Amino acid sequence: MLIMALSVIGVTPAAMAAGLAKPSVLITGANRGIGFELARQYAERGWGVLATCRTPEAAEELQALAAGHANVVIERLDVTDRATIDAVAEKYRSTPIDILINNAGILGDNDRQKLGAFDFAVFDEVMDVNTKGPIRMVEAFVDHVAASDQKKIMSISSAVGSIQMTFGGQVFYRASKAALNMSMRTLAKELRRSDAPGRKALIFGLIDPGIVDTGFAKNVPIPMIQADESAAAVIAVIDTYDRKSSATFLRYTGQTMPW
Ligand SMILES: NC(=O)c1ccc[n+]([C@@H]2O[C@H](COP(=O)([O-])OP(=O)(O)OC[C@H]3O[C@@H](n4cnc5c(N)ncnc54)[C@H](OP(=O)(O)O)[C@@H]3O)[C@@H](O)[C@H]2O)c1
Repeated sequence: MLIMALSVIGVTPAAMAAGLAKPSVLITGANRGIGFELARQYAERGWGVLATCRTPEAAEELQALAAGHANVVIERLDVTDRATIDAVAEKYRSTPIDILINNAGILGDNDRQKLGAFDFAVFDEVMDVNTKGPIRMVEAFVDHVAASDQKKIMSISSAVGSIQMTFGGQVFYRASKAALNMSMRTLAKELRRSDAPGRKALIFGLIDPGIVDTGFAKNVPIPMIQADESAAAVIAVIDTYDRKSSATFLRYTGQTMPW
């Protein structure tokens, strides 16, 4: 009734203030894999969960989670599409978000990121999701996070983005995660000098979630951990981040990763 009445006077549902339980977390790529597990575990903790994904109508597990948890809301958001990002940012304009988790990521076709077969369309796609996506998210949500109590911007990076630890293969994916690390660390330093309310106190984190059995990486010749184990460990690491450790690169075990 209320929505209909407001529509009549020109206020669309998207423009109405939307709320979340406190504390709150926004997760990209929350429909499956590590992102879904992060959403599920924060939901179990009683947090307000803004679970975003590209195709909510196909996100059956996430829909079931939201059906059983009043503290979970699902929103359509593609990290490569600024319009969908802005629509969510606008809808939640007056809602503080304690933690933004940049989780959405793609590996890109392995065979098309090898010497002799480089396909730069794949490089563009990987950079668009893994590097530009989190940068877009920070730009759109910086003040939602700055207005919150915890003020954390966390990005799921990868050990393969470590320049020091690299060994070969996945040239595009590795480059995208190294660029993610650099861009978030740079933004962390830059925002320390900002005079806008709350921005100075923002805490950034870059977390390697481990090698996780989500179907993301195929034919990995080393043992993988399960998504629930990874997400629980990532949440524990997020809990430890503070002003002092801001903009460091940590493993899901809490160890410092070499850049
Ligand atoms: N699994 C591992 O071993 C591993 C290791 C190191 C780092 N990571 C990182 O961990 C993160 C999650 O990986 P995962 O293993 O959970 O992978 P996954 O199961 O393949 O899930 C990837 C998620 O990203 C979403 N996504 C892809 N493109 C998107 C876009 N343009 N906009 C919004 N969402 C998008 C996917 O949504 P759709 O369902 O719509 O495609 C999906 O929800 C990634 O950043 C990955 O790089 C994973």
